[in-house]
Amino acid sequence: MKKFLALLMVAVLAVVMVACGGAKTTEPAKDANPAEATEVIKMGTNAAFPPYEFKEGEKFVGIDVEIAEAIAAKLGMKLEIVDMEFDSIITSVNQGEVDFGMAGMTVTEERLEEVDFTSSYATGVQVVIVAEGSDITSLDDLEGKKIGVQLGTTGDIYASDDFGSDNVVQYGKGADAVIALKGGDVDAVIIDNEPAKAFVEENGGLKILETEYAIEDYAIAIKKGNTELLDKINAALEELTADGTIDAIISEYISAE
Ligand code: ARG
Repeated sequence: MKKFLALLMVAVLAVVMVACGGAKTTEPAKDANPAEATEVIKMGTNAAFPPYEFKEGEKFVGIDVEIAEAIAAKLGMKLEIVDMEFDSIITSVNQGEVDFGMAGMTVTEERLEEVDFTSSYATGVQVVIVAEGSDITSLDDLEGKKIGVQLGTTGDIYASDDFGSDNVVQYGKGADAVIALKGGDVDAVIIDNEPAKAFVEENGGLKILETEYAIEDYAIAIKKGNTELLDKINAALEELTADGTIDAIISEYISAE
């Protein structure tokens, strides 16, 4: 019995030693593998805005998602996406819940009072979607009509300014505004051109007016004063522009006209 106990102790000791040895060797291996050791960087977005950010099953995809992945890789960080209402992104950036906001977000004077923006990585155009056969053919025809928009977007802000907020109906998602248009609840939808194309293609019976309502720059929102992150992301954007990565990502989702 004594001999058995002694043997058991030797065995236990051996297991403990192997375990410790194992633990020791995994430490340096962790450092040697940056893919596992990286710090997380959080992006706040509203993934209902194809082709910039949308979901394919459970996966986040789109131009912004891929550019953000490329930026995170340059920073040696692991990207985590936090999906939220578009309207909450700036607050979330300012409260530090996310490190940056990227959502086909237009740089505006008002937003610049709340957050800092990186250099612009894409251009957007506000356009008007109407039903095929609609009597609305120009911006002037929108006077007195019901206009659907996504809450808190530039389309919302401009339409309310130009046509009066009583004529503007705000939806949580652009796609819901488009469904309302199909159902006849609104007469037109003002939204960014690329999502407009995607929604029109998806729905049928709708068209985009030739007229361009506003031309805008998309950029990444960062908490005011976080110049360290702002500089790092701007440097990454510059490199990704110079080596053609950004163009390649954009043309993966948007076919050149
Ligand atoms: N460009 C517009 C804006 O900044 C709309 C952006 C909406 N983006 C989104 N992911 N839903 O207000």
